[in-house]
Amino acid sequence: MSTTTESYFPVAAADSLSPGEGRTVFLRGREYALFNLDGVFHAIDNECPHRGAPLGAGNLENGKVHCPLHGWAFDARTGACATRLGCDVKSYPTKIEDGEVFLCPQPKPTNTP
Ligand code: FES
Repeated sequence: MSTTTESYFPVAAADSLSPGEGRTVFLRGREYALFNLDGVFHAIDNECPHRGAPLGAGNLENGKVHCPLHGWAFDARTGACATRLGCDVKSYPTKIEDGEVFLCPQPKPTNTP
């Protein structure tokens, strides 16, 4: 699946998230969890499929984010759930331009880093 330049929108200053950090960002009425993994930014759905906690507020460890409420683990690159089958969340393309992180709200194919 290809995306056009026009489908990306700014969501955060790149220097506002240090490597190993994540947070919730907002775009067009939706929430996304944005992570900085060793200088590469990744975005997944913010809402945990278990009980809806914000994954952007979770702990990031070895490329996985742990939900702040009950600890379910998700791959921060792909959204794949490591805790329970069938509970993956979507992931979204990102890019950096002029010090800004841009997010494309069109999800990547399932489990694509
Ligand atoms: S709300 Fe995320 S693990 Fe329960």
